[in-house]
Order: sequence, then C-alpha cells, then structure tokens
Amino acid sequence: MSLLEIKKAGAPVLKEVCAPVEHVDKRIRTLLDDMAETMYEAEGVGLAAPQVGEAIRVVVIDVGKGLIELINPVITFREGSAKDTEGCLSVPNYYGEVERSARVKVEFLNRRGKRQHLTADGLLARCIQHELDHLEGQLFIDIAESLHEGESKS
Ligand code: NI
Repeated sequence: MSLLEIKKAGAPVLKEVCAPVEHVDKRIRTLLDDMAETMYEAEGVGLAAPQVGEAIRVVVIDVGKGLIELINPVITFREGSAKDTEGCLSVPNYYGEVERSARVKVEFLNRRGKRQHLTADGLLARCIQHELDHLEGQLFIDIAESLHEGESKS
C-alpha cells in the first residue's frame, strides 16, 4: 500500500463528474487499499477517488465502525433531513453547516464486483452523501450554509 497525495480545492479533478468503474480489477483494489491508508493517515472519515486524482466512482468511508468501500455507489432512497457541521480533507481547516437527508439507502459494488446495498443514518448517512457529491464534482463548500475557519469537526 502507499500513501496518495490529497488534492486541494482548486484542483480541476475535484470539479469533474467521475466515470463509472467498468471492471472491478486489481487496479481498483489497489486504489481502494491506497485510499483507505491515505484516509486513515489524514484522520479523515471518508475519501473519494477524485480527491487523489482519479476521476472514477470509488469511495472509502470509516466513521469508526469499520471500513466501507463503495464502487459505483448510487443512492436509491432518501428520507428526512438533518443539518450538521462538515469538513473535507480537500478543504483543510474549513467547516460548514450542510443540510443532508437523514437516512439513505445506497447500492454499490464491493471489491469483488458483487452488488450490495446498505442503509445508513447519522454520521454515516452524511458521509455517504458528502463523498457521493465528490463524484459529481461538488464540494461541501459549494452547498454549505455557512463556512468558518479553524474549528475542529466534532
Ligand atoms: Ni470531502
């Protein structure tokens, strides 16, 4: 495994609409491993492939309940709404309030190319929506109601 460079806001790749993964192969599994290592090293709770320069639909998340790997994720159900503070490894030291769906169901492929789904609420639901926005070229600072600097995320 190896650490990857995290792209910061302003990098063109963060504005791209990412392409679906056509084949879940060794290259994708290596990317997943490297993204997880990079996320943990940076003490983040999620990382999307464009943040490491790859405009493809791959995401890793760990909100403290174990690693989740999402390939070609699609939100198939949303319910409720919730507002909370978000940050992003591509926008260091900025935090903002973002309204999200309170519960989501997401379908995706796992690292073996098998179709799976999961239902999430709380921080995991928020994180899934934040990371999927990255795959559409959107950063949380594009939709945050307020933005402030330097306060640690809860
Ligand atoms: Ni982010």
